[in-house]
Amino acid sequence: MKTDSVDRTYPDDSEKAINKAEQHLRRGRASRRDRWYPLFHIASQSGWINDPNGLSYYHGRWHVYYQLNPYEPVWGPMYWGHVSSSDMVTWRRERVALAPGEGDDKDGVFSGSAVVDDNGNLCVYYTGQRWLDPNNSRAGQTQVQMMARALDSNAVHFEKLGRIIAPPQNQRMDDFRDPKVWKQDGIWYMIHGVGTAQQKGQIWLYSSRDMISWTFLKVIFEDKNPDVFMVECPDLFPLKNAKGDTVWVLCLSEMRRDPQDPDAETNVVAGYMVGDFSPETGFQSKTSLRKWDHGHNFYAPQSFMAPDGRRIMYGWMKPDSSSMPTIEDGWNGQLTIPREVRLDSKGNVCTLPVSEMAELRENELQAGSLLVQPESEITICEDLQAGEIIMEIDLETSSFHRAGLKIHATADGSYVLLTYNKETHQLVLDRSKGGNGDRSSRVVELDAEGNQLRLRVYVDRGSIEVFANQGQAVLSSYSFPNEGPRRLIMTSSGGNMVISQCQVFTLSDNGLDGE
Ligand code: FRU
Repeated sequence: MKTDSVDRTYPDDSEKAINKAEQHLRRGRASRRDRWYPLFHIASQSGWINDPNGLSYYHGRWHVYYQLNPYEPVWGPMYWGHVSSSDMVTWRRERVALAPGEGDDKDGVFSGSAVVDDNGNLCVYYTGQRWLDPNNSRAGQTQVQMMARALDSNAVHFEKLGRIIAPPQNQRMDDFRDPKVWKQDGIWYMIHGVGTAQQKGQIWLYSSRDMISWTFLKVIFEDKNPDVFMVECPDLFPLKNAKGDTVWVLCLSEMRRDPQDPDAETNVVAGYMVGDFSPETGFQSKTSLRKWDHGHNFYAPQSFMAPDGRRIMYGWMKPDSSSMPTIEDGWNGQLTIPREVRLDSKGNVCTLPVSEMAELRENELQAGSLLVQPESEITICEDLQAGEIIMEIDLETSSFHRAGLKIHATADGSYVLLTYNKETHQLVLDRSKGGNGDRSSRVVELDAEGNQLRLRVYVDRGSIEVFANQGQAVLSSYSFPNEGPRRLIMTSSGGNMVISQCQVFTLSDNGLDGE
């Protein structure tokens, strides 16, 4: 099946829509409250954001686009927001990159990806969305894959090229979105997510020689979970293992229907499978679906390849389904810090903060070893707004039952607790005593091997990201402390905690917060 060729007369009035959105964002910025606004994570100056989009490196700068509703801190008409950086840690806010137009993307410029074409132009692929009845979203929608090309080397202005792929004409498909494009052996490939008429979540594969006319090749994945009716934001990339062999990682974000499922609380699981892939044979999975992240707030990740070959990923810290405290502050949502995805020596996929993150380190508050006595606490910092904690806990000599960190601990007695349980090997991020927002806990069981537990924890004004044992497990969660200084405390119960190595840094901001 050959798809329609590009509609080159695509009607567009983006300039006007972008200017209006910019004005609104500026107004939102002026009245925003910053108690939880991130200092080193990417967020919009106001309004709502969701998925990372169009991740790329272009003309010496990193580009992160993201799903944006400039008008309200809730999901709505989708635009692409944009920030760029020369070092991946300090960012410049760029103007809104893509706005809904007058045709297939009238109601939304949905998620998509970016690649540099053979002439050196940044091209983005995204989903154009239209409601069938703008006053009633239940009446359904149309979604088609679309293309736009950057007009300048800063990838700020785009020319829309219109629709490149529509759903098969004989089937009604509301969910047909999120193109991810890459080049392999001289040919362009695309995958995107599909929710079929039979309510199955699938991933479809296409190829193209000219980037404009696409040929459907095959369905490379169908979710076997009967509760999954759509898989969003698929991604597919190779990684090399220690022997130098290539394995493929297929990523997807599931939309589930089952309200009984604990994950259905947020309606979503973002995970991956490892296997083999070729355009001829498709994807053969050798693993079950594993979660990228075990925290409360992680969804719709996207990856891209850095010029030095690293596979870098950003995720969206999806708000808790119960109400999000930042809404009253005029903003909602942030991305995770960038993570490098690698295979460890055993061939397991692990995710670690990119090395660039170390550039944000400011003051070293703590260095060396530490002993936390049984049933006692050590305050490491009286007011940590943005920080990084690196701990190596000696499990052999430690006698604790549960030990870890109290984060965002304020004078009223609230805090979020990160602890490791030596008997169960469970790492728990417990928000039951948190200041504001959702109070549930998240748990991940770590491999019991080895005598060291290594933790790397990033604390921002409204979030916590925990990387355990060299990225074997990650937890990303929002945390909204109460007023006053935010103490960082080490705590141990049932015995002592021997920390053989400990470093705590304050982090500087990424430059976006002031803009
Ligand atoms: C995932 C998602 C995508 C879609 C976008 C719309 O969070 O639903 O599938 O393109 O968000 O904002």
